[in-house]
Formats: sequence, structure tokens, C-alpha cells
Amino acid sequence: MRQFIPILIGVLASLSTTASATQTFANRGTTPEGWDSTLVEHEGTLAQVTNVVYGNNGTAIKATQTYDPAYTGRYHSEVHHFQGYHRGEQGFYGFAFRLQQDWQFSPAQSYNLAQFIADFTDTGCDDFMPSSMVWILGDQLVTRVKTNTVCSQVTTEFKNLTTVSAGTWHKVVIQANWQNDETGFYKLWFDGVKVLEKFNIATTINDTREFEFRVGLYANGWHDDAGGMKGTQPFRQVWYDQIGMGTTFADADPDQWS
Ligand SMILES: *[C@@H]1O[C@H](CO)[C@@H](O)[C@H](O)[C@H]1NC(C)=O
Ligand SMILES: *[C@@H]1O[C@H](CO)[C@@H](O)[C@H](O)[C@H]1NC(C)=O
Ligand SMILES: *[C@@H]1O[C@H](CO)[C@@H](O)[C@H](O)[C@H]1NC(C)=O
Repeated sequence: MRQFIPILIGVLASLSTTASATQTFANRGTTPEGWDSTLVEHEGTLAQVTNVVYGNNGTAIKATQTYDPAYTGRYHSEVHHFQGYHRGEQGFYGFAFRLQQDWQFSPAQSYNLAQFIADFTDTGCDDFMPSSMVWILGDQLVTRVKTNTVCSQVTTEFKNLTTVSAGTWHKVVIQANWQNDETGFYKLWFDGVKVLEKFNIATTINDTREFEFRVGLYANGWHDDAGGMKGTQPFRQVWYDQIGMGTTFADADPDQWS
């Protein structure tokens, strides 16, 4: 009988660890393997590569987009994980990304890096509607929350969070308590430094459906800005690696899980 006691203690200890830290999603830079779906529009590409990766080994996801002045659609090159969040949940979401070495930051235009999104076609008020997004505008990191209702959307942007450099890996971790009243919170860390912390705010719209978590290059400025692409760099490349979600910071921080 005695020999079972240490085993029981071990089992209880591992159970309590599991309850406090649960990684609900992890992708080590693979595509399409490990994703619920992928979306590549127009001349965009998604590839799994070994030559540019986060850390010492393994693979990363390379997303590209190419501007076409004759095309009027959008420019996604994204991977999709269907279980992002729904209202009432709380979690951490992280990824590493790297902009191509010669990324042209100026003139400033918006390039999205990650987003939460759900299909609201049934409401008659929108189709696929992103709630929070993470993007760069020029060399500045930006994020947002979307609140109120899908038929009366309120968007709150948090701009100039930090300066992003090209040709090097960066880490983003978001922690959110997804609420549509003033009981939510939203935080963002860039390279391990907290650059945004908002308590007692609404963080999502009044709806309970599941939002997907997507990472990838979405050159939305090319579509949304009058006149299309600004500047002289019609071919854009962004690498992604170590995409994680869970109940603790370590579950989402690219450096704290392998
Ligand atoms: C990658 O590197 C890490 C740390 O250097 C090591 O623990 C791991 O086994 C390596 N994985 C592969 C597939 O080589
Ligand atoms: C904020 O970012 C914009 C570009 O996104 C830039 O033009 C502006 O100078 C920045 N402001 C500060 C105070 O850094
Ligand atoms: C959310 O929606 C429900 C049901 O449609 C409604 O009763 C409630 O007042 C809404 N709350 C807010 C804050 O909009």
C-alpha cells in the first residue's frame, strides 16, 4: 500500500499544474498542418520554410502578398484556428513574427499581422467581422477592440504602442478577458514588455459565437486606402512561428514552450 502514496501525490501535483496552466493551442511554424483552414487571396502565398525560423531549428510559416493595381479584392495570406474565443472567456494568445529585412515602413500604411474574426452573415449587418486585430501602421504597432453590437459596431484603437523593426523576430502576447460590459480587460506585450493594459473596458461585441484566431499577412492598407498601395514595395513577406494559446502567459509566450 505504501508505494502508492508517492504515486498518488505525483498524480495530484500534475493535476493541479494542469488546472493552472493549460495550453489550448500550439503551432511550431507548420502550414497547412496544424490549422483548421488557410486563406490565400490573389497572388499571395503561404509556405512552411526551414531557412528563416524562430529559435535554432524547426520550421516557420512564410506569408507573402503582391500588390496588383488591377485587382480590387483583399490581400489575405493567413492561417486559421477556429477556437479563438467567445464572450465570457479569458486567455493568452501569442506568436512570433519577422518582417522582411528591407520592409518599407514609409509612407505609412496598414499591414495586419493577427486577428480574431467570426462570421456574422446571419445577422444581416456584416459578414466576416474581425474584432481585435494586431497590425503595423508605418513602423508603429497598433491593436483594437470592437464593442457594442454587430449592427452598431464601436471600434477603439490603441495606436503607437511601440516601434517595430524589420529583419528580426518579435514577439506579441495578448491577454484578454472578453466581455461586452465594463468588466473586461485587454493587455498586449511586445518582446516581453507590456505596452498596453486596459482594465474595466468592454472587449468584444454582444454575441456569444466563437471567434477564430488567425495569424498571417493581410495587406489591408492596399485595399482600404484610397489609391491602393503607397510607396514602392509591392512584394511583402512576413514569417510567423510559435503560435500559442492558453490560460497563462507562458502558454502563449514563444520562448516559454517548445
Ligand atoms: C531544437 O532545439 C532545441 C533547443 O536547442 C532542442 O531541445 C530540440 O530538441 C531541437 N529540435 C529538433 C527537432 O532538432
Ligand atoms: C504614431 O504612429 C504614426 C504612424 O502610425 C506616426 O506617423 C506618428 O508619428 C506616431 N506618433 C508618435 C508620437 O510616435
Ligand atoms: C446584449 O444582448 C442582449 C440580447 O440581445 C440584450 O438583452 C442586452 O441588453 C445586450 N447588452 C448590451 C450591453 O448591449
